[in-house]
Amino acid sequence: MASTQDLRKFNEGFHLHVHAHAGTTSMDFGHVHEHPGVTGVRIDSPGSHYHRIWGATTYVDGHFHTYDGFTGPAILHPEGYHTHEVNLNTSFNDRHSHRISGYVEPIREERQPV
Ligand SMILES: [Fe+2]
Ligand SMILES: [Fe+2]
Repeated sequence: MASTQDLRKFNEGFHLHVHAHAGTTSMDFGHVHEHPGVTGVRIDSPGSHYHRIWGATTYVDGHFHTYDGFTGPAILHPEGYHTHEVNLNTSFNDRHSHRISGYVEPIREERQPV
């Protein structure tokens, strides 16, 4: 989980974009978890960018899981929107883990203030 220092640094980039994400994990051990959250700010990479995605799942069947990884590069949509693919494994708790697969919410990057 993010430390206070991590959150302060995160907050300093408030004008950079983030993406909402939501959905259910894979079904394992007879249950799924939800993973609502928001990614970290954009991290520049050659010709694209990506985001850190981390957090905790909902509590189901007496436990939750954590996850921490990175999205794929930007996937461009019409009219300036873009999304990112996500493929992560959650932490291993209670003798199992789950898979988180999908796409973050598409957003359109606004002009950054000068
Ligand atoms: Fe993005
Ligand atoms: Fe689970």
